[in-house]
Amino acid sequence: MTRILVTGASGLLGLNFALQYQAAHQVMGVVHQHGLRNVSFAVVKTDLNNPRILKRLLVGAAPEVVIHAAAIANLEACEKNPQLAQQINADLPGELARLTRELGMKLVHISTDAVFDGEQGGYVETDTPNPLSVYARTKYEGEQQVTEANPEAIVARVNFFGWSLTGKRSLSEFFYNNLSAGNQVKGFTDVQFCPLQVNQLAETLMGMVNLDLRGLYHVVSG
Ligand SMILES: NC(=O)c1ccc[n+]([C@@H]2O[C@H](COP(=O)([O-])OP(=O)(O)OC[C@H]3O[C@@H](n4cnc5c(N)ncnc54)[C@H](OP(=O)(O)O)[C@@H]3O)[C@@H](O)[C@H]2O)c1
Repeated sequence: MTRILVTGASGLLGLNFALQYQAAHQVMGVVHQHGLRNVSFAVVKTDLNNPRILKRLLVGAAPEVVIHAAAIANLEACEKNPQLAQQINADLPGELARLTRELGMKLVHISTDAVFDGEQGGYVETDTPNPLSVYARTKYEGEQQVTEANPEAIVARVNFFGWSLTGKRSLSEFFYNNLSAGNQVKGFTDVQFCPLQVNQLAETLMGMVNLDLRGLYHVVSG
């Protein structure tokens, strides 16, 4: 049984990850604005945008593994508040990387395929990103801060779909909700991406931890 701290535990990835491993491991989830009820893992409600809170949390919970899924993942919110996006998506991961290295904890930092502009396609880890939005730029800087502060960390560029707390978070929920309500929705034919179902992503991330991997990975479907 491993002690796992999951940030963003009210989010699409964090919640699914925590629910998936709450029985087999000792999971603690960190949420900010959205509380959680009826879950079997411990929940801490706090604002991680504060290095002192972050250190106290890590020292108190003493996790062996930190899955860092907290982020400002809403593109519009990032455009509206670039300073907060910088703090949460770039500076917070950097600080977390520094602290996890100091405290000897394994860090899995979640990043995004949005670091690429999408022009070329078929990206591999050695390709040079070209982030176009505030969200993408701050996430890319987060990767760089993590890698610099903690070379042992896993940086996972992901894309995924699944069921969220609000039922409105993922693209699949958008289509499901609209089609269930009898609404016609437009899809697209000129975009290709390779998301994983969120539970498969959680399983893959856990597998990467168990293999003691480090460095940058694209964790997506075929
Ligand atoms: N969703 C996708 O398709 C997708 C694609 C590629 C990459 N990603 C990446 O995957 C990761 C998880 O994304 P997601 O879709 O699961 O995100 P999400 O559903 O938007 O959840 C974001 C989480 O971050 C927490 N959070 C935000 N600010 C915080 C703060 N100041 N202190 C503590 N917690 C804070 C939120 O807490 P509250 O809600 O409680 O406030 C929430 O739990 C992110 O790194 C994202 O960039 C997502």
